[in-house]
Amino acid sequence: MEETIAIVLAAGKGTRMKSKKSKLVHQIYGKELVKRAVENARKADINEVIAVVGYQKEQVQAVLGDTVKYAVQEEMLGTGHAVMQAKKFLEGKKGKVVILSGDVPILRPTTIKALIEKGTERKEYATLLTAIYDNPSGYGRIIRDEGGNVKAIVEDKDATEMQKEIKEINAGIYCFDIEELLKALEEITPNNAQGEYYLTDVIKIMNDKGLKTGAVIVEDNTEILGVNDKVQLELLTRVLRLRINTEHMRNGVTIEDINTTYIYDDVEIGPDTVIHPNTTIKSGVKIGEDCEIGPNAYIREGCELANKVKIGSFVEIKKAKIAEGTKVPHLSYMGDCEIGAKTNIGCGTITCNYDGFNKSKTIIGDNSFIGSNTNLVAPVTLGSNTFVAAGSTITDDVPDYALAIARQRQINKENWNKK
Ligand code: UD1
Ligand code: CA
Repeated sequence: MEETIAIVLAAGKGTRMKSKKSKLVHQIYGKELVKRAVENARKADINEVIAVVGYQKEQVQAVLGDTVKYAVQEEMLGTGHAVMQAKKFLEGKKGKVVILSGDVPILRPTTIKALIEKGTERKEYATLLTAIYDNPSGYGRIIRDEGGNVKAIVEDKDATEMQKEIKEINAGIYCFDIEELLKALEEITPNNAQGEYYLTDVIKIMNDKGLKTGAVIVEDNTEILGVNDKVQLELLTRVLRLRINTEHMRNGVTIEDINTTYIYDDVEIGPDTVIHPNTTIKSGVKIGEDCEIGPNAYIREGCELANKVKIGSFVEIKKAKIAEGTKVPHLSYMGDCEIGAKTNIGCGTITCNYDGFNKSKTIIGDNSFIGSNTNLVAPVTLGSNTFVAAGSTITDDVPDYALAIARQRQINKENWNKK
């Protein structure tokens, strides 16, 4: 049976992050770099993923858990050596193995798929992902023959002056024939400028045997960006932000300011919804059509908003299911709640959902009016067509059509201030 396996190289040290934490467990939009690399493989329909871990492996393993198999690289002897550590998972298997870097988190799954498909179509034993860089220094250069066939990769430190002029670089992402990769790995040596076992040497070894190799040039160079320090971490977060926001805009969402709108992964937003600046929407949130969100809104995990919902400024919502046409216009925290249709949540309304031990739920029906500055002490249920007087602290359920007032009566002391 032909299989497709992925190996994620995740043994590296990441000194330039200047962090106690492994570079690979730093997050972009709430998700660790290495987790993103593994998920990219899965989204490219690769089920079996092997992570090569080493430096601070406990941290990497804590993030990936049992979603992958592990190979351990005890000593950093190079990328070829790293892949060799996963040998036991490849032996006796036929098919393709895709090599990914744990610190290259925003590679598109479609690019991984294209790499596999092109390689298969062209009957190549190795297919590399490459890019054209104006400034290629530091990267491995792609050596092609007159016919344009990929013949070898030469590392920057081993390159001749002429080879250094080559602008096509190795992205460090590959698709190999499993059996031929295992054979070629046996032949690599550390006889090079860095004294390392280079995975890249496999290309020349295969060519010397007459095995065809090739390349796919990535269209969007930002996909292959890696993270080595915190400046690059921010850069990649920005690239991902623009990519995600652009996708939503193409689907009909209006985003006023692409730079200050933070939409995490796997968010659904319907067309004609408007997102105002300084809005954050966490992973998995679902927002309907014709909604208005922000400015300065924080839509946290577990929220589902139907069509025509308004979430205004300085509003934080979490695990809130809000039905059509309901408005939470200003200065509210609504957590762990279900709110019916066409209800108005007055300015400053708060769900008191946490008693220090447990989270409790607030349920509000349709067509209700919650007056400004109301505290809803959960668990509490308010029916439909209810009216809560401003400034109330609601601790008891409110039946349909009722008015609830839960505040001290005002006393006016006549002429008191003349004294
Ligand atoms: C590698 C490529 C180079 C390419 C570049 C793209 C080699 C020899 N060179 O260079 O052609 O242009 O990537 O970024 O492969 N790793 C391990 N164990 C090791 C060494 C590395 O797990 O012993 C991991 C690193 O953590 C990293 C990846 O492999 O995730 C690439 O290693 P890195 O040292 O960054 O390779 P480069 O020298 O940059
Ligand atoms: Ca690198």
